[in-house]
Amino acid sequence: MSDLQLKVNGRDVSIASHPSRRLSDVLREELNLRGTKVGCDAGDCGACSVLVDGKVICACLTPVIQVSGQAIETVEGLATDTLSALQNSFLRHGAAQCGICTPGMLMAAVSLLNRNKTPTKIQVEDALGGVLCRCTGYKKIVAAVMDADNSAPSTPLPEAGNAVGAPIERLDGRQKIDGSENFGADFWPKDAYLVRVIRSPFAHAGFEFGNLEDWKNTTSGVEAVITVDDIKGENSFGVIPAFADQPALAQNAARFRGEAVALVVGDADKVSQLNLDDFPVEWNEIQNTMETGSALKKNAQRVHPSRPGNVLTGGKVVCGDVQNALAQAAHVADIAVETGFVEHAYIEPEAGCAWLEGDVLVILACTQAPMMDRDDTAKVLGLEVDKVRIIPSATGGGFGSKLDLSVQPLLGLAVLKTGKPCRMVYSRSESMASTTKRHPAIMSARIGTDSEGHIVGMEFTGDFNTGAYASWGPTVSGRVPVHASGPYRTPNYHANARAIHTNAPPSGAFRGFGVPQAAIVQEMAYDELAQKAGIDRLEFRRINALVDGDKTVCGQQLYGVGILECLDGLTEDWHVANE
Ligand code: FES
Repeated sequence: MSDLQLKVNGRDVSIASHPSRRLSDVLREELNLRGTKVGCDAGDCGACSVLVDGKVICACLTPVIQVSGQAIETVEGLATDTLSALQNSFLRHGAAQCGICTPGMLMAAVSLLNRNKTPTKIQVEDALGGVLCRCTGYKKIVAAVMDADNSAPSTPLPEAGNAVGAPIERLDGRQKIDGSENFGADFWPKDAYLVRVIRSPFAHAGFEFGNLEDWKNTTSGVEAVITVDDIKGENSFGVIPAFADQPALAQNAARFRGEAVALVVGDADKVSQLNLDDFPVEWNEIQNTMETGSALKKNAQRVHPSRPGNVLTGGKVVCGDVQNALAQAAHVADIAVETGFVEHAYIEPEAGCAWLEGDVLVILACTQAPMMDRDDTAKVLGLEVDKVRIIPSATGGGFGSKLDLSVQPLLGLAVLKTGKPCRMVYSRSESMASTTKRHPAIMSARIGTDSEGHIVGMEFTGDFNTGAYASWGPTVSGRVPVHASGPYRTPNYHANARAIHTNAPPSGAFRGFGVPQAAIVQEMAYDELAQKAGIDRLEFRRINALVDGDKTVCGQQLYGVGILECLDGLTEDWHVANE
């Protein structure tokens, strides 16, 4: 430990800290300046951007000793009683969506505006290039920086008032831009223990623990080690109760790389520094199945013994006589497409804390579904649902993945075992390894038209890799057949989709529940059909677009259909792009 002198937001501060401690940790843990966020701890996301002597740096990559004596500025220094002009511009433009990237964006923008009061769009984009945003698409952020002095707005905004399109200030806008918003990792009770997770290094492996009691007693700072034996309820959660199959902690075998098997709980400073490589567990790697194709082979090992053929479930939609329609079609496109995993990559890793209030377990965590979290967490812990209270923190991006449980039952186990408040934050690697992804898909389709380019029929099949556990696999396999024809009139139709288990991480919800994957097949086939029919590709879609009074492939009669207007809105740009 060294005594260090820092100058933070104009104030002189003395701290005793290890000289190599990350500046982000010192700001957040010791100085309570939690407006500086941590997304990756690797200098990639820029959420931890602060200014040191006016220059932007990643606080997560900077040892605190390096900035001793230099002027450090964080988001908390931008506004005192009133917001700065730049912050007001962020508010006007709605530039903070989830808000987790906003402090970093603001600091990068301040550095630019200190040098250049009227930057061009390219200069703003360049200056903010080291800070990632997963929500906004950057346009509002760039406009907010360019309009910081509000003298010549680059993006005219409609007048505030009662008209449609008039801007309303976000209810939680101010705290997102002054750094006071509490995300999952920003609040914890004093002296809360830290929880860390032991995870499987293999996609499929049996395991046996060594002497956990000895390890706990001889490892400084560790108060408890938790395994499946500590689970008092039903060790099985899942967003769709009929398919719930995911253990909070694996028993005997892990079904995917990154699956949790044990928890280590104790003093936050000490446990955060532990090298967990010597945790007493022996792994026995078992043959795995990562691909849908191999999972469907006749002799493939079952991921879940109760699910024959590794098929979780499937969905089907049939209308008309597709075989006859395709046989009579003037043109047919035959398309096969494979898509891969997509990670949500929200900037905020999963995080939260928990404590007891009387006999009620309170869990504060980032989540998209607090009520579902409560029910499943209570089930795993063996508590009545009214003995579990979930407080959703602000959520720094979720995009579907934070509909599933992550830290909640683990925090609950730690609090019930120790009787003390506990907190945890997934590392970026843990977040990517253990939480849900977009389903990879293997899909094929045949679509036919008459000689004038009208769709006469479509046949679709898709197998969606749902990974080791069900999560939203049933929804994906049920929803894809409903929507695979897109917003187009399809009188004859036959679509099947299945969710297939493998030893990959669980696939879950991700904006569209499998439908974007199916849209790739349908749109590629439409391009081919337009070419075969000699019709402009945009016009081909106009000809087939659903309009008021049409029926979907499920027989639903539609009104208020807007796809034609959307396609019309593209016409001018489409012709320019094709010149
Ligand atoms: Fe930028 Fe959410 S607003 S990551």
